[in-house]
Amino acid sequence: MGHSTIGVIGSGAMGTGIAQVAAAAGDNILLFDADKSALEKAKVNLDSTLKKLSEKGKISADEAKNIFSRIQFASDLDEFKNCGLIIEAIVENLEVKQKLFSDLEEIVSADCVLATNTSSLSITSIASSCSKPERVIGIHFFNPAPLMPLVEIVKGVATDSQLEKEIKAKIESWKKVCVLAKDTPGFIVNRVARPFYGEAIRIFEEGIADFATIDWAMKEIGGFKMGPFELMDFIGSDVNYTVTETIWKQFFHDPKYKPSLTQKRLFEANHFGRKSGKGYYDYSPGAQLPAPNKDKALGEKIFMRVLVMLINEATDALYYQVASKEDLDLAMTKGVNYPKGLLKWADETGLENILAELEKLYSEYCEDRYRPSVLLKKMVREKKKFFS
Ligand code: NAI
Repeated sequence: MGHSTIGVIGSGAMGTGIAQVAAAAGDNILLFDADKSALEKAKVNLDSTLKKLSEKGKISADEAKNIFSRIQFASDLDEFKNCGLIIEAIVENLEVKQKLFSDLEEIVSADCVLATNTSSLSITSIASSCSKPERVIGIHFFNPAPLMPLVEIVKGVATDSQLEKEIKAKIESWKKVCVLAKDTPGFIVNRVARPFYGEAIRIFEEGIADFATIDWAMKEIGGFKMGPFELMDFIGSDVNYTVTETIWKQFFHDPKYKPSLTQKRLFEANHFGRKSGKGYYDYSPGAQLPAPNKDKALGEKIFMRVLVMLINEATDALYYQVASKEDLDLAMTKGVNYPKGLLKWADETGLENILAELEKLYSEYCEDRYRPSVLLKKMVREKKKFFS
């Protein structure tokens, strides 16, 4: 990789952000998009973002100019022949990504690393189209890439074992926090965060509380920056529902990840959230946000139910070796701004309390989604903590 040019393919939200991050760290970038107008738009956006940063005093005018000058705009894939690392951030479609990587293999040198920013496809399946699948790796940024510190690095089945370390060092030089994740659905963050949305919706569906009350409980009692419904409206229920459904399917319909009808109906109605003016809440001009029921006992019950489900998922991810305990906690604090790592939170709350709460839910509902992680049970039996 060395100091050679970094290629970024796909100049949408993610590709533009990744180009900015790498150029700000001093790398030279070549950015390309199959759609010429998208590339033109990216150029205008990057220029105006950098100018705004310098107007706000975050970077000097000279720095803004230098960062922009390090980004070149390619009109043809052939221009990528001297790149040492190429990150693709094109449409989330397996066949299209496979085709791009096999086309690139005809152009680039034998040691060029081909990375994908995919959120939901397996790295292994993308790599399988390549004649050298050992050079393919996942480098998963979060949106917006210049602001979100976390990057998940994901090896596929055939990925060279040295590559993970090299890529980690490279991405850390871009001032990002890297975690290593196994090539499993949702990697770390998109998997472990599922209950934050799913259990909140379930609590609503059972008539226990409304959206505003659940959001209030998670923020005021749980310390989360945003409540689940506010956050889903921010992300968009089109995106959030699709991620949930994809993860559920990839886990062979494990009921733990089952999507909810409430969100599916919103998605079908095009009530995506902020971007469409209506979601769980109404964002039309003059609309009032509903007031929560600030009953502390109810709030604590809601928060505890969501928290134990999140901790159970993080524990299971550890059990199945998706990532180390340190990386699991780092991912949730740096990738989705959780106030604490979930495993640390489990230690503080008492693993026996988490297990007791899960067992209560499991016996009440007789549903597989509430089954406690084998690791949680084992740790309680052995009176262990995650971090001692
Ligand atoms: P986007 O729709 O904003 O941009 C994708 C760009 O790729 C478009 O400009 C499109 O013209 C271009 N493109 C499509 N096919 C192409 C091809 N064959 N060759 C060259 N360019 C092509 O999408 P976004 O949101 O930037 O996502 C890109 C990738 O990043 C996807 O794989 C997505 O799953 C992943 N991702 C998205 C996140 C998000 O929150 N938006 C977060 C993390 C990953």
